[in-house]
Amino acid sequence: MRAETAQPLLVVDAGNLLFQTALRGAGEDDKTTALIIAHGIVRAYQGMAYDAVAISANDLSAGAAFFQQSADQSFPWVAANVSDQNGRAVVPAHSIKKIAGLTIGIIGLTGGTGNDVAGFIIDDWRTALKTEITLLEKRCDILLVLSTLTPAENNEIQQNYKQLDIVVSADNKGANIQPQVFQNSLLVQSGSRGKYIGRLDITRHGPGNWYTAPSPSPAERPARLTAIDRQLGQLEKEQRETNRDFSQKIARLQSYRQRLSEQIGQYKPEDSASTIAPSKRFQYATLAVKPTSSRADTQTIVQDIKKSIAALNRYRHAGIQADDPALLYALQKNEIVGGSACLPCHAKQTEFWKTTKHADAFSTLAEQGQTFNLQCLPCHVTAGRVMASSVDSELLFLLSLDTDRQTIGCEVCHGPGNNHLLSPETTAPLRLPPEEICRQCHTPDRDGTFSYPGKLAAIACPAS
Ligand code: HEC
Ligand code: HEC
Ligand code: HEC
Ligand code: HEC
Repeated sequence: MRAETAQPLLVVDAGNLLFQTALRGAGEDDKTTALIIAHGIVRAYQGMAYDAVAISANDLSAGAAFFQQSADQSFPWVAANVSDQNGRAVVPAHSIKKIAGLTIGIIGLTGGTGNDVAGFIIDDWRTALKTEITLLEKRCDILLVLSTLTPAENNEIQQNYKQLDIVVSADNKGANIQPQVFQNSLLVQSGSRGKYIGRLDITRHGPGNWYTAPSPSPAERPARLTAIDRQLGQLEKEQRETNRDFSQKIARLQSYRQRLSEQIGQYKPEDSASTIAPSKRFQYATLAVKPTSSRADTQTIVQDIKKSIAALNRYRHAGIQADDPALLYALQKNEIVGGSACLPCHAKQTEFWKTTKHADAFSTLAEQGQTFNLQCLPCHVTAGRVMASSVDSELLFLLSLDTDRQTIGCEVCHGPGNNHLLSPETTAPLRLPPEEICRQCHTPDRDGTFSYPGKLAAIACPAS
């Protein structure tokens, strides 16, 4: 981002950067994988020259050594209310940046309370925030808080600390939040895990309130009114035709309609935005980040992470015995027989299946060098029970699959075949796989446009 623009830019992240859930209770193996990824994220952020990054309670799971090491490499952590067991600050409470002639104070606030979050103490954020504001308010033109507090606490900040200008939040739900102006400050959040970047452009003439354009703008109001009328008509029609009750929604819309039509009646052109001279204006956009848009150095880091994890898993897998009962259970070795057992009686379906992409799903991973990535395997193999697991120590069993299961085989859709194999005439497998089966893998994340009726024909085996 920075290199592509000549404008002064402040790059921040409000937290939940490393982990979205705490690693507490996770096995050592899972922790090691998570830490490999965390180190990679820190490296990538350094490449992108972040100015300040706050820490969430979940992030603290990375442990004292991790924060020590990354802080030593000048990673710009800020956390005003986190200390170690001796009451010492772990990373700086704030950071001060000079940008476009303005001095910007950035304060990190960590949500949650607790005496033992991976050996850290999360102190009361209110006390910490007061101290920071006292320290910074005279020195800074803009005060910005990076927060992993709850939405209610963020509102409390906006309500009570009028010296603040901007609150960037990163709550656990991690959705995009459009700018909310309340009292003197602006609250924004961009979607989680690097899928979105929020870009806030600020014009500042002096201290004071943010200017917020009326919404809808005077010019947009008549069109909005028409849209509401259409919506009301549809709701009333649907209410008549079905037995559903929309009366509350209709009442809400009607009162909004009333207010809007009054505003239209009262509007005079001289009220328009251009005649007001606000001290601070903003413009906000959320930009979706595509994997293909990542920079070459970031891609190298991602490759390194993949290689480290593959090496780790290969090593861990070497410790599993082929007759380990847990492995046999997880892979349903007794129930799932593998697709080559079906061939003798269902040659026509097998020939067809071989032409579908499911048959090549594991080769697809191999082409990407991802066959040791436990996160990919469940959806690209025939895996039985392990499918439902997200625990590395169980997913590790997937590295023991024979070639017959290194594919999305017959039994993924038709269910385990052992009983059917023993008595084909009396025990029929599932004939038509229901939508839930497809959606285990065709998730919104992986296949946003998946439609069961639409995709079924492409993979349905022919009749005998
Ligand atoms: C020994 C032969 C034999 C083997 C091996 C065999 N089947 Fe069958 N299968 C049959 C017979 C017989 C039927 C019932 C008659 C028919 O519809 O063809 C059947 C029916 C089916 C049906 C349709 C069920 C229905 O309700 O119409 C599916 C699906 C099926 N088999 C899948 C499999 C799968 C998957 C495997 C491998 C795990 C497999 N079969 C192995 C003989 C076999
Ligand atoms: C075990 C996970 C899994 C299940 C269950 C699954 N799929 Fe897939 N599906 C995949 C993967 C992975 C691919 C891509 C394979 C590749 O290209 O290597 C795929 C590809 C496809 C494709 C081809 C790509 C395309 O968009 O044309 C279709 C169609 C499809 N699946 C439909 C279905 C339907 C319908 C079901 C349920 C009856 C289903 N799948 C069940 C994982 C699964
Ligand atoms: C939740 C299930 C799921 C997981 C986990 C998953 N995939 Fe897939 N993958 C799919 C499905 C479903 C498709 C087919 C999508 C389609 O047809 O649009 C697919 C398709 C693909 C394709 C071919 C189509 C494309 O997008 O280019 C590749 C390559 C791929 N996956 C790689 C991976 C890798 C690498 C991982 C692990 C980092 C992974 N997948 C993890 C379900 C999954
Ligand atoms: C992605 C899911 C999927 C996979 C994988 C799959 N099938 Fe099917 N199969 C279907 C669907 C869908 C139908 C059609 C069911 C219907 O129309 O009632 C079907 C139908 C069948 C039938 C019944 C055909 C008939 O006589 O009408 C058999 C037998 C069968 N499959 C065997 C197999 C075998 C053997 C394999 C592996 C080589 C396999 N299937 C892989 C989804 C799948």
